[in-house]
Amino acid sequence: MVPTPQSAPKTQAWTDALTAMLASGETARGQKVSRLGYFCEPYRPPSGIFSDKVIKVYRGAAGAELDRLARAHDAYLDFLHASGVRVPETRFLLVPVEGSRVPVIVQQALEPETMMRALMIGSPLPEALEVMQAAGEVIARFWSFAQGRPERVGFHPSIRNLAVVDGEGVFFDTFPPLIGYSHAEMGKVLVDFSSNRWLRAAAPLLRRRIEGIQNEWYVPMDTLVGLVGSACRLRPEDSEDFLVWGREFAASRMAIPPETIEAELSEPPRLPGYWTTVRNLLGMQGAPNTR
Ligand SMILES: Nc1ncnc2c1ncn2[C@@H]1O[C@H](COP(=O)(O)OP(=O)(O)O)[C@@H](O)[C@H]1O
Ligand SMILES: [Mg+2]
Repeated sequence: MVPTPQSAPKTQAWTDALTAMLASGETARGQKVSRLGYFCEPYRPPSGIFSDKVIKVYRGAAGAELDRLARAHDAYLDFLHASGVRVPETRFLLVPVEGSRVPVIVQQALEPETMMRALMIGSPLPEALEVMQAAGEVIARFWSFAQGRPERVGFHPSIRNLAVVDGEGVFFDTFPPLIGYSHAEMGKVLVDFSSNRWLRAAAPLLRRRIEGIQNEWYVPMDTLVGLVGSACRLRPEDSEDFLVWGREFAASRMAIPPETIEAELSEPPRLPGYWTTVRNLLGMQGAPNTR
């Protein structure tokens, strides 16, 4: 999980291989690891140099926007590493295809049984609470490092964006890179790179709502509340235990004031309205991170 130095020959070989893969349509046709991503449908090649990787192909965009995205992704990965959050080896590349450039992330593949969602569904309660603790540590680490840093940084540690390997939380969703973008700029990123064409088409009407999707990613307590809310929706019968865990974690590991904890974690948190509204308005099915 230690980042390898970016070697130029490897970058070129990877870029060439990805150009060929994208041009042949393999990534678009192949068996997906997931179909629920908001931005991409990660693909794990069955053979070849990327057989231990997942390939995340994003939409293209105007040149300057892509260059900024590449810089921000580098900065975000650096930030995550410096904060002590564990991330699988991850590379962001702009791959030339038919005269334009396509943003692609190549990331070490994690085994399906390490995915937090699978663990939360398949484990007895004491183990599910250990999984929550591992995820909580990731959240606490991120925000403790973010404190006092000048950039605007956000984090989306949802159940679908985390894995647990050897008892330690691993965060793997580095897109969009939530660093250095203003609220309005991130709103534009959310539209321009959404893989949903209805969302892009409706963006002028839904601009404020789409911008609002990011809000909970930029407030430490809200990221924890989002995680607890998902756990409660996944296992309603264990909600009270997740709430107790969340209140204790917020107080002891994140120094959240008691009145905020009381207000946000006395009952199972509801989904933030922005995302549900957008999803319902567009009739999107199987949306990510809602459970
Ligand atoms: N490195 C990985 N190894 C295995 N599965 C992955 C990996 N990265 C993503 N996935 C799967 O794909 C889903 C979506 O990936 P993610 O990076 O979160 O994209 P998005 O930004 O579209 O949410 C994840 O919830 C997970 O199921
Ligand atoms: Mg995700």
